[in-house]
Amino acid sequence: MSEMAAWSELFDFRGKVAVVTGGAAGIGEGIARRLAAQNASVVVADVDEAKGRATSQAIASLGPGRPLFVRTDVSDPAAARELVATTVHERGRLDLLVNNAGIFPFAPALDVTPELWDRVININLRGTFFLTQAAARQMKAQGSGGSVVNIASVDAMHPTGQLSPYDASKGGVRMLTRSLAVELAPLGIRVMRSLRARSRRRAPPR
Ligand SMILES: NC(=O)c1ccc[n+]([C@@H]2O[C@H](COP(=O)([O-])OP(=O)(O)OC[C@H]3O[C@@H](n4cnc5c(N)ncnc54)[C@H](O)[C@@H]3O)[C@@H](O)[C@H]2O)c1
Repeated sequence: MSEMAAWSELFDFRGKVAVVTGGAAGIGEGIARRLAAQNASVVVADVDEAKGRATSQAIASLGPGRPLFVRTDVSDPAAARELVATTVHERGRLDLLVNNAGIFPFAPALDVTPELWDRVININLRGTFFLTQAAARQMKAQGSGGSVVNIASVDAMHPTGQLSPYDASKGGVRMLTRSLAVELAPLGIRVMRSLRARSRRRAPPR
């Protein structure tokens, strides 16, 4: 068996339903594509309706799962509950949540406004919590456990400047992941995080 075939067998998501926030573009789109190729039914959740629909259509040919797009602003807890309800209504269950949606606006700390602070924290940290809460309630009701993957950042440990609200939000995501992992484990729900290294983001020249 080739290495690729073995890998595909190990990660077979047939019959599983996965929600990927920020799944319309970037890293989230890559995750959505990979999950679809591994036979998951992928729900692309994003504020960008045009890109979200396009991604959902594009991944339909990758596997047997029927992808779905749900327009969602993860900073709104009511929209998070609606996303889970729509997922269950349309696809019957929820097995995996990938909290990937995030923003990273560069601003010197001395220029950060309360509005910018709230926007970053509400999307990156509050959004991760309330969508996980809604998903975990559904996974508990299903009785078969589930998984939550939070996309954090190396910036949560190694800040490089001009990203103070972002770094605080990702530091929060790191600890929130540990906190929820402890609390949700008895329900069979695994909560993990991925630390992405910064690749193409650079602080603008000053
Ligand atoms: N790009 C990097 O180098 C890097 C490094 C470390 C961590 N990360 C993290 O990875 C994740 C994805 O980053 P990316 O580079 O792919 O970003 P990106 O900007 O390319 O894509 C982000 C996606 O999230 C969506 N989005 C933004 N706000 C949203 C909201 N309120 N509700 C729902 N969807 C929303 C956008 O429409 C977009 O489709 C983020 O959490 C980011 O912090 C990225």
